[in-house]
Amino acid sequence: MPCKIVILISGSGSNLQAFIDAAAKGELPASIAAVISNRPLAKGLDRAREAGIATAALDHTTFESRDAFDAALLELIDGYQPDLVILAGFMRILGADFVRHFRGRMLNIHPSLLPKYPGLNTHQRAIDAGDAEAGATVHFVTEELDGGPPVIHARVPVEPGDTAELLASRVLEQEHRIYPLAAQWFAQGRLVLNGNRAEFDGKALPASGYSFNGATV
Ligand code: GRF
Repeated sequence: MPCKIVILISGSGSNLQAFIDAAAKGELPASIAAVISNRPLAKGLDRAREAGIATAALDHTTFESRDAFDAALLELIDGYQPDLVILAGFMRILGADFVRHFRGRMLNIHPSLLPKYPGLNTHQRAIDAGDAEAGATVHFVTEELDGGPPVIHARVPVEPGDTAELLASRVLEQEHRIYPLAAQWFAQGRLVLNGNRAEFDGKALPASGYSFNGATV
């Protein structure tokens, strides 16, 4: 049975689209069982419907607590019995119980070169700090927000006169290349989380993950 993936989104879903396109090109040996959003009007849900993928919306504003939302979301996801859960622009912080339940089979993409700039406004912070490079990182999700073991990252030069928007759009292009690749590795059984260490083909990945330079391994 091919690897079954459930993708969580909150917004436009351009990373989701990269997964849909990779699957259509036969570059992702997995099936996308469902797309779930915490925002019922998220544009990404339209992308999923257009691709004929099951969708669900679980509006977090209708739950009396974060735990209640997490519990309902966990049950909804488990209904699809996924091998892998992908957070693709999913802008909710998930509680420890939820994360423990999917530990080792849940990935996230963060728009910075982790461990630099966990949290929000990553591109503006890189520009304000005068960094020469920015980028994005795919990592396993653990209880530490944006702190799980990195799998792969892509570096993007910061150009003179860059705005956060300009930089974000160049970083997003790289996100769309590294995220489906990380999922491909997981689906092929080459990528595992061993304790708190990301391993590829049985060997520990570097602390910042594999450095993507446009070539696959
Ligand atoms: C991406 O930059 C991702 O790194 C961040 O949220 C953004 C989502 O973009 N977590 P999209 O919804 O996939 O277009």
